[in-house]
Amino acid sequence: MNKYEWFVFLGFILITVFFISLTFKKKDVAVEIKLPKQFSKVAVEGRQIFEKKCMGCHGKSGSGTQKGPPLIHKYYEPNHHSDRSFFLAVKNGVRPHHWQFGNMPPIKGVTSSDVEKIISYIREIQRENGIF
Ligand code: HEC
Repeated sequence: MNKYEWFVFLGFILITVFFISLTFKKKDVAVEIKLPKQFSKVAVEGRQIFEKKCMGCHGKSGSGTQKGPPLIHKYYEPNHHSDRSFFLAVKNGVRPHHWQFGNMPPIKGVTSSDVEKIISYIREIQRENGIF
């Protein structure tokens, strides 16, 4: 092949890869949420811990990302996922059962009092969004 043919060939490959990657792009499940005007003191502390330890997957204010589900979702209302499920999730991780993100690993360096604060933070946002 001459230079020109190589160029066309490479361009063709690039375009093909681009379209294949579009097809395989994971569906973004992130949700739109409203934030309460004011958080309780505990929830404010919870937010700091959440942003360090959970936001990478569960998204800003628990709105979800391509790596983890939104926690501001009816699946996670207190009757379906009690506070206990938060403690268990952080301690033992979670096997995928509601979504297709794969496992949540156990999260190290988060104490049970940290989890309590995170729960207050998440519940306050859930309440604002009519989840419960
Ligand atoms: C590496 C990504 C990742 C991180 C970091 C992460 N999670 Fe998760 N989490 C997931 C995924 C994925 C699921 C969904 C599993 C399923 O049900 O399919 C999940 C599910 C959950 C659930 C639901 C548990 C259940 O019983 O269904 C809770 C509660 C939760 N996460 C809380 C947290 C908290 C709190 C933190 C921070 C301390 C955190 N997660 C950090 C990925 C993550």
